[in-house]
Amino acid sequence: MSSGRIVAAALAPHPPHLVYADNPPQNEPRAECGWEMLRWGYERLRKDLAAVEPDVYIVLSPHWQTYVGWHFLGLPRFQSLSVDPIFPNLFRYHYDLQVDVGLSEAIQAEAEAEGLVTAMMRNPDFRVDYGTIVSCHLANPAWDKPIVAISSNRLTSWYSTEVLQAQALALGRATQRAVEASGKRAVLLASCSLSHRHFVAEGDVPEDMTREHITHHGQHLWDMRVIDHLRNGRSREVIEEMPEFVEQAIAETDSGALTWMLGALGIPTIPAELYAYGTVIGTGNAVMGWFPERAA
Ligand SMILES: [Fe+2]
Repeated sequence: MSSGRIVAAALAPHPPHLVYADNPPQNEPRAECGWEMLRWGYERLRKDLAAVEPDVYIVLSPHWQTYVGWHFLGLPRFQSLSVDPIFPNLFRYHYDLQVDVGLSEAIQAEAEAEGLVTAMMRNPDFRVDYGTIVSCHLANPAWDKPIVAISSNRLTSWYSTEVLQAQALALGRATQRAVEASGKRAVLLASCSLSHRHFVAEGDVPEDMTREHITHHGQHLWDMRVIDHLRNGRSREVIEEMPEFVEQAIAETDSGALTWMLGALGIPTIPAELYAYGTVIGTGNAVMGWFPERAA
């Protein structure tokens, strides 16, 4: 059997607004327009991801929050209605997704070997979080490939970003080994925004783009700094600066999603491709891709 590989990885933020504005049949609310730069960026990312012919998408989402260890979806199919708790007016999404349970279990076993605490989610009524759903939808709206979904262990809250990152890097190594042994072509999705201070009031028309801008100039400066690092292969610097980034920009990378992905890629020095940057309710969002095979 040929050795499995991570054929691509993406920073794939999950504002439900992007699905809302796309008007897919799975989502009940209808939009007129909105957040086009990000949506056009995702469109180009999707083409590049499809071109590497993945067998499976592996996603880590900040909105599946677990306080004891890292959890994995552990049944072959989950299906329900996902309603965003903050934006029920924008996101009421009917999902029906397939899980690669074998690969989930293999990553779990490797994570245990790294000394991490883990669990498999085997409850058929478990409601999959909207971060997982939005990132997977925007990366592959056809949903024709299985996913592996990993929770965010809230170590930044309990301990510190340093402790979170130590475990997220270990989880990344575990993911890399399990993918290699699986023989599969995997795409990783780090489901998070960059800076994450957001507005607390919504206008009458949610997609009114005259209202959309970064919440604070300091966030924009931080986002540009992190993007510049990643576009130039300086992922080591991103990991080193992460505690300050999380603290000062309230970054959603406090979930470990980005650190896990960089760890699984071996802390890459290849440049990431930037597809789009844009704000959603004042948060900073970059759609970026890594293609190890292309670099080789
Ligand atoms: Fe989020």
